[in-house]
Amino acid sequence: MVLRNSGLGDPLLMWMIFDWDNDVNSKSIYAFFSQQPMQVENKTVIITGAGSGIGAATAKLFARHKATVIASDMDLEGAKRTVATIEEQGGNAMAIQTNVAFHEEVAELVNRTVSEYGKLDVLINNAGTGPRQLRKTGDFGLDDWDRVIRVNQTGVFYGMKYALQQMAKQGYGGIVNVASLAGVKASINHISYAASKFAVVGMTKAAALEYAAMNIRINAVCPSYTESGLLDKLLSMGPNVESILKRHIPMNRFCTAEEVAEAIVWLASDSTGYITGQAIVLDGGAQL
Ligand SMILES: NC(=O)c1ccc[n+]([C@@H]2O[C@H](COP(=O)([O-])OP(=O)(O)OC[C@H]3O[C@@H](n4cnc5c(N)ncnc54)[C@H](O)[C@@H]3O)[C@@H](O)[C@H]2O)c1
Repeated sequence: MVLRNSGLGDPLLMWMIFDWDNDVNSKSIYAFFSQQPMQVENKTVIITGAGSGIGAATAKLFARHKATVIASDMDLEGAKRTVATIEEQGGNAMAIQTNVAFHEEVAELVNRTVSEYGKLDVLINNAGTGPRQLRKTGDFGLDDWDRVIRVNQTGVFYGMKYALQQMAKQGYGGIVNVASLAGVKASINHISYAASKFAVVGMTKAAALEYAAMNIRINAVCPSYTESGLLDKLLSMGPNVESILKRHIPMNRFCTAEEVAEAIVWLASDSTGYITGQAIVLDGGAQL
């Protein structure tokens, strides 16, 4: 990423100044910007659903940039695997088992983090699930409605509620919610997933407005199909699903978990101090 973490004010402006003065060529400017670490060092970061996929990739990337990671997942073994990888690479992390569908567990996640580390800088609301069966709305299962809304929508509300109580006390903080392309664009046969992800984008904007004056930024990422356990389940739901999905992606490939992680860490970093209430789409050009 060329523009991240310049520490020099507006990187585009710097580019123009360097060009005018003819004292640095464009290659060396690129090298300078692309080698800068993201500004998350020493931040205490909770990531829900950190046991696999996008959450695990995000946890590892935060740790590589020297943040302290609380890897939370309802699958404790998954969270522990993420922590073990981080520790092998010299990072600092702790695993906590949390099912985000239960407000007591989410409150406890925030409380344990604050009692262990004294603060909560960043929450990544990533845990999510999809319906077990793809159906048009009239035939959609009641259980697939309740379960997905409870995890993807209510779980994100619980995360924001308890994190924001702590962040308001501190007077700073950042939240990145993992929504989806399905939260900004119509999609079919998974009405609870679409409803939950549109809700995540809406909650992101509403809470960002409430907390903007309190030095707390809240943003969302909206990936399209991303290589992960969730995508594997979708691909197994019928023949030719992969080629059907890729037909709608100009880049002709799925997103990687690491690419989503880059966007999340960037939004949580001090490099994006003036960005709040945004839903950043990663879709390989699907909306063009
Ligand atoms: N993979 C995609 O194509 C894609 C696209 C857009 C958005 N997303 C979103 O990205 C997020 C991460 O999904 P992923 O693709 O990495 O899938 P994944 O299945 O690999 O990971 C999801 C993780 O969340 C955990 N989890 C599920 N329900 C939970 C709950 N109630 N409480 C705590 N943890 C729970 C799972 O144990 C798992 O570790 C989800 O919010 C998903 O909706 C995924």
